[in-house]
Parts: sequence; structure tokens; C-alpha cells
Amino acid sequence: EKDGHDWFMRKEIFEQPRAVADSLLGRRSTSGLLQLDEMRLSDDEIRDIDKIIIIAAGTSFYAGMVAKYAIEHWTRIPVEVELSSEFRYRDPILDHSTLVVAISQSGETADTLQAIRHARSQRSKVLAICNTNGSTIPRESDAVIYTHAGPEIGVASTKGFLTQLVACYLLALYVAQVKGTRFGDEIEEVMSQLEAMPDHIATVLAGAEQVYDLARAHTGTRSVLFLGRHAGYPVALEGALKLKEIAYLHAEGFAAGELKHGPIALVEQGLPVLCVVPPRGRDQLHEKMISGIQEVRARGAQTICLAEEGDTRIEPYADVLIRLPKVPVLLQPLVAVVPLQLFACELATALGHDVDQPRNLAKSVTVE
Ligand code: M6R
Repeated sequence: EKDGHDWFMRKEIFEQPRAVADSLLGRRSTSGLLQLDEMRLSDDEIRDIDKIIIIAAGTSFYAGMVAKYAIEHWTRIPVEVELSSEFRYRDPILDHSTLVVAISQSGETADTLQAIRHARSQRSKVLAICNTNGSTIPRESDAVIYTHAGPEIGVASTKGFLTQLVACYLLALYVAQVKGTRFGDEIEEVMSQLEAMPDHIATVLAGAEQVYDLARAHTGTRSVLFLGRHAGYPVALEGALKLKEIAYLHAEGFAAGELKHGPIALVEQGLPVLCVVPPRGRDQLHEKMISGIQEVRARGAQTICLAEEGDTRIEPYADVLIRLPKVPVLLQPLVAVVPLQLFACELATALGHDVDQPRNLAKSVTVE
């Protein structure tokens, strides 16, 4: 049942190329237009949206953070991302032109369920992004995009996360198509880039041994930091969450630009810092990330850098360099998170922990 793997989590990590491909399947009509069958929101309802609020918990919340970058970039609709457990308690401003997007792998998370009930009571439309057919959250929503990860057994979410990202990109592109903020050829180009992702993820998985060696060299580590910027920031947070959940290590993710505002004081000799390096682009992101990496390295950190193929600029500053396929910055989370999942899984295994049933955690959290 685990296909020869020791853990469901590891099996599910290796299923990701397939899960991503399945979640993309059948989304393009013969005319080339994007279609989302189960959407159930009319074009008029979509054109009416003037604000999007994404609500989710845990790993699904980090998918929501990535979604904000994509939706705002492609649709120009303002997006807020909020923890579902906090949402109703701040008296959020909601009306019929607010679209609330609830992201939940299980479809049963109580915090998220209560949040969508509140949103609907305020006349907002709710769209669920969910991996579990017929579960409560999609049943109580106005619209749904199902991810096609297949059942996720490991308590630590992996393929659930990647397929949520895919659903968020599809939603962003679909809304852009209906609102006319992006044109057909651009949407097609992003769709082709998405369709190339399963192969890119497989390439990252083929390099698992390098990450496993790294993980086994860190069994004595007490604390790990993760740095990212832009869409790489939620990836850093997710890398840290994986390590907390299954390896029971102190781990924290930061936006690299925030380092100098406090967290850099944590850096001491030998502290491992995993850095998600953005692709080189026209903006300053890549250079700014490198200066953050220089800062921590100058203070004795061991820098473990995830950087795209061909990025030679990073080489002098990386104690360990893990290569990622060359992809656009918005899509980079789909490849960048994979080594972090492998790292956590292998380190937890080496420490002798039960990776699939970590202490104190349940697969779906049905109490608030
Ligand atoms: O089923 P959901 O996506 O609503 O679950 C949300 C969180 O409980 C979940 O992502 C949790 O953080 C996982 N254990 C992460 O690995």
C-alpha cells in the first residue's frame, strides 16, 4: 500500500508529479479557453467581484499566501489572506461582491467551516478548493474547485499542498480570463508552463539523495531557519512547518527582508539556514536575497540554498547548493517546496519518529 516506501508521506511526496498533472487535466477546452467545470459561478458573478478573501489553516494557509501573489498579479483584484481561526473574530468587511475562497485538503477543518458559514451569512459567495469529494466544506460552499491529489494519508500535507497551488493558479487565470485582465495567449503560455511542472517536479525528486544526505547530517541540529521572498516566503513558512510537525525541531520561516528587523539576532555559528532563492528576473528580488544570505553567512550560519539551474551568482554564498529547474517566480513554489518536504521526512526518519502519525496531531482537525 505504500508502494515500497517506508512512509505514506514519502510515497505521497513521490506522487506529486502525477497529482499535479491530474489536477491540471481537462481544464482547457478545445477552443483553448480555460474551463472550471464544478465552478458554478456565472461570468456575471465573477465580473462583480471586487475583493477576494482567502481563508485556510496550516499548510493550506500557505497555499493561500502564494495564491495572493498570483491572483493580484493576473486579475488586479485585491486579495486578503487570513487564518480561518481568526477570520470571524475581527468582524471582517464582507458583502455580495466579496469572494471568499476557502482552501482545505480534508474539507472538514472546523475553523474553516465556521469561517465560511460566517461569510455566507454576510451574503458573500464562497468558493472551496478541496481534495475530498462530498466533504462538508465544499457541500456548504457556492462553488468548488476539486484538487486531484488522491487520498492523502500522511498527517503532514505534501501532495495536498502542491495541488492546492495548482487550483489557485487555475482560479487566478480563470478570473483573469472572465474579467479580461489577461488575454488568451498569455493565459495559454502560463498553462503550458504549468503543464511542464510535473516533469520539473520529477527532476527535483530525482535529486532526493543529495537532500537525504543533508538531512542525515543534521540529526544533531536543534534549530533551523528558512528564508524566502515573494512567492518563496510562504515556501519558507511551509518548510519550517514540515520540520516542526514531524521532526519536532524548532524551525522558523522568515521573509528575508525582515531579517535585519530582528530575527538575525538568532543567527549563531553553525545554524542551518535554508534559503529559497528567487529566479533571476528584472526586479531586484534575486540580488536582495543574496545580500540577506551574505548577512547570515557572515555571522556563521550554514547556508543551504535552493536556486535555479544556471544561477552562478549564488555559488560563492552557498555552503550547500540544491538546484531547482528554471521556472517563473510565481510558479517556483511547486518545485521549491519539494526538497524541503524531503528534508523533513528524512530528518524525522533518521531521528526515529513516526512520520505518518506525528505526536499530538490529527489528519483533520474537527474542533475549533
Ligand atoms: O484539511 P485542511 O487543509 O483544512 O487542513 C489544514 C491544516 O490542519 C493542515 O494543513 C495541517 O497544517 C497539516 N498537518 C500540515 O501538514
